[in-house]
This record gives sequence, structure tokens and C-alpha cells, in this order.
Amino acid sequence: MVSNRVWRVAGRWLLTTLTTAVIARWLRCALEDRPRLRRPHATEEEVGLSASRYAQFMQYSPMMLVYRRIVRLAGQRLAAAGSDSGRPRRVLDVGCGPGTLAAAIAASQPDATVLALDRSADMLHTARRQQRDSRVCLIQGDGAALPLRDETVDLTVATLALHHWRDGEAVLREVRRVLPATGQMLLFDLRRDMALPIWLLMHLATLFLGRVARLPGDDPAASVASAYTPAEAEWLAGRAELRGVFARSGFAWLWLDGTRARPD
Ligand SMILES: C[S@@+](CC[C@H](N)C(=O)[O-])C[C@H]1O[C@@H](n2cnc3c(N)ncnc32)[C@H](O)[C@@H]1O
Repeated sequence: MVSNRVWRVAGRWLLTTLTTAVIARWLRCALEDRPRLRRPHATEEEVGLSASRYAQFMQYSPMMLVYRRIVRLAGQRLAAAGSDSGRPRRVLDVGCGPGTLAAAIAASQPDATVLALDRSADMLHTARRQQRDSRVCLIQGDGAALPLRDETVDLTVATLALHHWRDGEAVLREVRRVLPATGQMLLFDLRRDMALPIWLLMHLATLFLGRVARLPGDDPAASVASAYTPAEAEWLAGRAELRGVFARSGFAWLWLDGTRARPD
């Protein structure tokens, strides 16, 4: 009887100690990995994640709420851009991926053409399969060398793409070139200096996605490590001479938002 109790107590103690040790070890590894300096992100080819898998995954992610917000803002921003050139309004999505946001903007802006640009043929192939709207024009190209003429875009959007750009300043310079002075930019991304609880959640999600859902790569932790802080992002926009663009931030994300030229 007594020995049964002793075994039970010893078993519980062992289990608690082991669980605590595993959690402490994971926390230590995760915290040691918390980078102060940003690390460049691997390309999709290096990660080995197919575009169709990415698109499926994103459908169930909180990004759908971000797309909805951008779609809501797009009309307002296009009106504020106030192009009087007589051509249809043009929205550019740089690093459009599977094109979910581009399609949603086109559906909500019947008078606009949406240029959805990505360097990945695989992403554009997936976008093409999902695309029904002829006003979405899919372009394979590099954001750092946009195949567009100067001042021909009214609104540029980009979601989860900034941390992927090898040369963020070069892409933002190109964005500046294609926007007129009143042209608008709306960019959403993760921030590397996100609140610690969210950052730990991201690491837990990475464990789950890698081990349980068998997604290749090390995301979302790798994306967080390659993201900018709001101050760095605003500095980058300044370097690209986007004088009216400023950073806003939430506890896990940042926005670069504003006009090409500083409003008077
Ligand atoms: C994480 S995905 C984001 C896709 C999409 N915007 C979204 O919200 O899901 C990043 C995308 O940026 C693209 N990309 C990275 N660097 C690029 C560049 N220099 N020019 C154009 N596209 C680029 C990648 O091919 C990839 O499709």
C-alpha cells in the first residue's frame, strides 16, 4: 500500500520534472534564436514549399483579415491618389504570391486594373489557376526592376513580401518610380521585434507546422527573423525617397503607409 503511494508520487514527480525540462529546453533554444539583426529569408525554391500548398495554407490564416482590410482601404486610397490622366486606375501588388489579394481588390474595384507581379513562376501558375477576372494582369518579374513606365500606378500594395525582398531598398525605389507624387502605398508585413508572447507562439506554430503538418522550411519563425522592425522599414522607405510614407505598427506586424511625396 505504502509502496504504491511512493511509486505514484515518484512517477508524478518524474513526469513533472521531465515536462518542465523539455519546456525549459525549448524556451531556451527559442530565446537564443531571437535575432537582433535581420537574417535574409530563403527563396521559395530553397524552402521547397509549393505555391499551391502555400495558397491552401494561407486560406485558413489570419492574413485573410488583412486582405479584407486592404480591400476596404483600396477604394479610399485610389480616390486620394486622384489620377487625372484619363487611364483606368492601376493597382500594383508586388510579390503577389498566389494572387488572393489581387483578385479581391479587382472584385471590389470594378474600374481598376490590378497588376499582380511575382518573380516565382510557380506562384503565378497557381494564381492563374485561381484567377477568373481579366482585370487582374499577372506579371512575372522582379520588384527591383519593375517592367512598368514611370508614374503609371496609383496604388501599390504588398503583403508579407518585404521580408522576402533581397534588396528592399531597390524594390521601394522602383515603387517610388512608378507612383506619381500623390500615388499611394500600403505595405503589410511582420515585425521582427514583435511582442514576446506572440513571438513564442510563432515558434510553437513553427514546431507544429514542421513536425505535425509536415510543411517544409522553418516558417513562420524564419519569416519573423527576416522581418524588419517598424523603424528599419521607415528608414528603408526614406532611403528610397518615399517621403510621404510612414510606419505604423501593431504588436506583431507593421504597415508602411502613405503617399510617394510628403503631403503639403
Ligand atoms: C510570403 S510570399 C507573400 C505572397 C502574398 N503577397 C501573400 O500575401 O501571401 C512572398 C512572395 O514574394 C515574392 N518575391 C520575393 N522577392 C521578390 C522580388 N524581388 N520580386 C518579386 N517578387 C518577389 C515571392 O516569390 C513570394 O511569392
